[in-house]
Amino acid sequence: KNIYAYKEVNSTNTVAKFLSMNNIENGSVIISEKQSNAKGRSGKFWESPLGGIWLSIVLNPQVEHSKLPFITLATGVAVANALEKIGIDNAEIKWPNDIYINDKKVCGILTEAIAQFNTIENVIIGVGIDANFDYEEFPEVLKEDSTTLKEELGEEVDINYLIKIFLEEFEKIGVLFTEGEFEKILKEWRKRSYTIGKIVEVKEPFNKTYDAYVIGVDKDGALVVEKIDGTLEKVISGECIIKK
Ligand code: BTN
Repeated sequence: KNIYAYKEVNSTNTVAKFLSMNNIENGSVIISEKQSNAKGRSGKFWESPLGGIWLSIVLNPQVEHSKLPFITLATGVAVANALEKIGIDNAEIKWPNDIYINDKKVCGILTEAIAQFNTIENVIIGVGIDANFDYEEFPEVLKEDSTTLKEELGEEVDINYLIKIFLEEFEKIGVLFTEGEFEKILKEWRKRSYTIGKIVEVKEPFNKTYDAYVIGVDKDGALVVEKIDGTLEKVISGECIIKK
């Protein structure tokens, strides 16, 4: 596969988007040592110092729109599987796509779809892993609920090795995706879930936030929650904050 490696870019997702408009090969990976203007979910800024893993994958998935959320869920599983292979066996996925270790976030995933004339042309999957920098380098606001692999393992990780393992895991789960084995992806995701069985505050776009108990994920990858009044709700997009 093609790997485009940079020392510094504004955002690997932005570079990926640009390259995808110029017909780069399906599955190409854009990777950078640092990012100066990286994007997190909900328009937030994403800290990307030297020592982290900042990459984006360009995909041209030939599936129905409704199946696209599975790409993000599958990517989370691939990250958790890769972490397990380097000795972290307690990585968990917070719905929809944050990876947590010991109740702290260590990886975020930002999936962006590029549509033209109403059809999805490409999907850019951005993965950011807080690998080898020190906790002290986090801005104050993030310190409370973020961590790094170095912090958790007590030593630096071999970044290139982890990238290689992650791409292998991504390819493996990608096969399940192309074969339409969505239930298998969900099974792996559920095994790693940090969210199921917890009380959360649900934040949906254009909706009031509310507290709910997380029951599970359904066949479309939506989060199924029970509200305080006992009604069930499906959360298709948004965020949830774990309360207990
Ligand atoms: C989140 O908010 O949790 C998602 C963070 C995604 C960060 C990654 S780093 C590589 C890629 N390039 C970006 O600008 N963002 C993603």
